[in-house]
Amino acid sequence: MPIARRQAGFLEKAMRQFPAVVLTGPRRAGKTMLLRTAVPRAQYVLLEDPDIQDRVRSDPRSFLESLRLPVILDEIQNTPQLLGYVRSIIDAHPRRMGQWLFTGSQEAPLMQGITESMAGRAAVLQLLPFSRAESPKVDLLKGGFPEVLARPAGRELWFASYLQTYIERDVRSITQVRDLPTFRRFLSLVASRHGQFLNKSDLAAPLGVTVPTITEWLYILEITGQIILVPPYFENFGKRLVKSPKIYWGDSGMACYLLGIQTQAELERSPFLGAIFEGHLAAEILKSQINRGQRKELYCFRDQQGLEVDFLIPKPNAKFWLVEAKAGRTVQTTMAKPMLALKKAAGDRVARSIIVHRKSRSQPEMTTVSPGIEALSIERFSDEINSAKN
Ligand SMILES: Nc1ncnc2c1ncn2[C@@H]1O[C@H](COP(=O)(O)OP(=O)(O)O)[C@@H](O)[C@H]1O
Ligand SMILES: [Mg+2]
Repeated sequence: MPIARRQAGFLEKAMRQFPAVVLTGPRRAGKTMLLRTAVPRAQYVLLEDPDIQDRVRSDPRSFLESLRLPVILDEIQNTPQLLGYVRSIIDAHPRRMGQWLFTGSQEAPLMQGITESMAGRAAVLQLLPFSRAESPKVDLLKGGFPEVLARPAGRELWFASYLQTYIERDVRSITQVRDLPTFRRFLSLVASRHGQFLNKSDLAAPLGVTVPTITEWLYILEITGQIILVPPYFENFGKRLVKSPKIYWGDSGMACYLLGIQTQAELERSPFLGAIFEGHLAAEILKSQINRGQRKELYCFRDQQGLEVDFLIPKPNAKFWLVEAKAGRTVQTTMAKPMLALKKAAGDRVARSIIVHRKSRSQPEMTTVSPGIEALSIERFSDEINSAKN
């Protein structure tokens, strides 16, 4: 039995309200599985199949007429020209909901096609790998891809072949990356910058490529759901801010793989532990947002005096939460300092300030670090951000 996805409830709702639903997200996150499980009676067509692509190219109308609705058209980025035809079919019967189910592994170009051809006719949902709320097996080392959680011992091999397929299919189809070995080195280099403020020239130099090439390559990683870019918050609270986004590999298991971290013991000793925990937390926050049909909204904060708070999550009524990621298992009062300083500048707009840490087996869970500053284990924090009241 497949593991239940949080996105399933929202998917059902979208299918009742829109003729079409588009599910985007990285490869192997579980998109096909989610749609096939949610609508078992739907016809299924994989558009990655070259024969089918030929049929679509030579006669799109007959291809669509041969389908039995509802239908899952999987990996629609292979045949974006279909969208215009689907639109005219939908417009002939605009009240038939949940008939067209698409998946796509390349968010931006696909979204452009959807906006142009299917505006108002399609709901767009995103699916990321499992969050902690969906599987208790998710952790820093394994990350959240379903197949890695199912067979953790085969993790190294899985990530290696994932990157291979990823490079061959997605990267080649988006752009003319001629130098694939350099692109592969680029992936490891990005991992070595995990949790840092993005500096493109610093990525370009070691690879001997130009900054525009780095921009293009980062764009590929972003639209295929591989990396997370956390932008700086747009309000400055009277401070001069650092303007670059922070960059993370989206799946902490992938980050560990690319950094050569193979065991829990190696992870505990790794200088990247803090950054990996921080990126994992960023991913958990974003997953909790998209799984509830909200917009992804996460910011970082750093001013030019060096005041830095890891995350800022917008909340209703112009309020927000401040979140600090601490990979250690012991929480200390000094950790509250940056959040206290930012609270002073932002006033009562700060609804909560939370230090998220790893659970300690020996210590009882600490809840208040200093007045107004909470401490929560990542398990507790995950429960909270996924509960209905937040
Ligand atoms: N909900 C789930 N429960 C258990 N395993 C899953 C689940 N979703 C996906 N998987 C596993 O992960 C693999 C990749 O899922 P898939 O749906 O093909 O991803 P995508 O369509 O996003 O590329 C599947 O073959 C399946 O083994
Ligand atoms: Mg699929």
